Amino acid sequence: MSSRSIGLSEGLHDYLLANTLRESDLQRQLRTETASALAGSAAMQIAPEQGQFMALMAKLIGARLALEIGTFTGYSALAVAQALPPDGRLIACDISAEWTAIGQRYWHEAGVADRIDLRLGNAVETLAALRTSADAGRFDLAFIDADKGNYQRYFEDCLALLRPGGLIMIDNVLWGGSVADPANTGTDTIAIRKLNAALHDDQRIDLSLVPIGDGLTLARKR
Ligand SMILES: C[S@@+](CC[C@H](N)C(=O)[O-])C[C@H]1O[C@@H](n2cnc3c(N)ncnc32)[C@H](O)[C@@H]1O
Repeated sequence: MSSRSIGLSEGLHDYLLANTLRESDLQRQLRTETASALAGSAAMQIAPEQGQFMALMAKLIGARLALEIGTFTGYSALAVAQALPPDGRLIACDISAEWTAIGQRYWHEAGVADRIDLRLGNAVETLAALRTSADAGRFDLAFIDADKGNYQRYFEDCLALLRPGGLIMIDNVLWGGSVADPANTGTDTIAIRKLNAALHDDQRIDLSLVPIGDGLTLARKR
């Protein structure tokens, strides 16, 4: 048997979902509504098994204060907020009032709306404000899933905002496989490649890239 990660055929992926996914009815409804209301953008939503994985990570590190950059219709925020304790807090950043309004309905229905503090606006500015707030250095968890051109900047902000031992999760780090295709010189591909290379050498973090969804980097602040 090879020692490399196994590739997931459609059948094996179905098996994985059938045997491990514990998605609530509400989460499934949110996925269905996103797919029907926003067909062209629904692919931005994380995979359900990734939401479950991120919730597990939040519980494993005992996260109480979390940050999300890129909320869309609120699936990842719902998954993480449900993994926080009742007095936990997730600051969710996005520029779209329209997309996040869908999420807000589901957060209310799930009983976690009081744990989610939605900050509408450019995340670059939201994070700059957080860095001078009382929460700076207190975050346990951060999830980066917004505009790829700012990923490096978001990473630096998150690292500053996290406590030592806190965890940053970065989405789309395999970018549909294009990061490994030298012929692909798209702006987003280059930005993600640069970040992946920089993190490889970054001694401020412990590092693993998990090939779940579109690739999820885990970076633990040392
Ligand atoms: C890939 S989607 C997030 C998906 C979400 N995590 C989920 O699970 O459904 C990216 C989101 O980032 C938001 N976004 C893009 N650029 C942004 C910026 N500069 N500041 C804040 N949000 C931004 C978009 O509005 C979009 O909702």
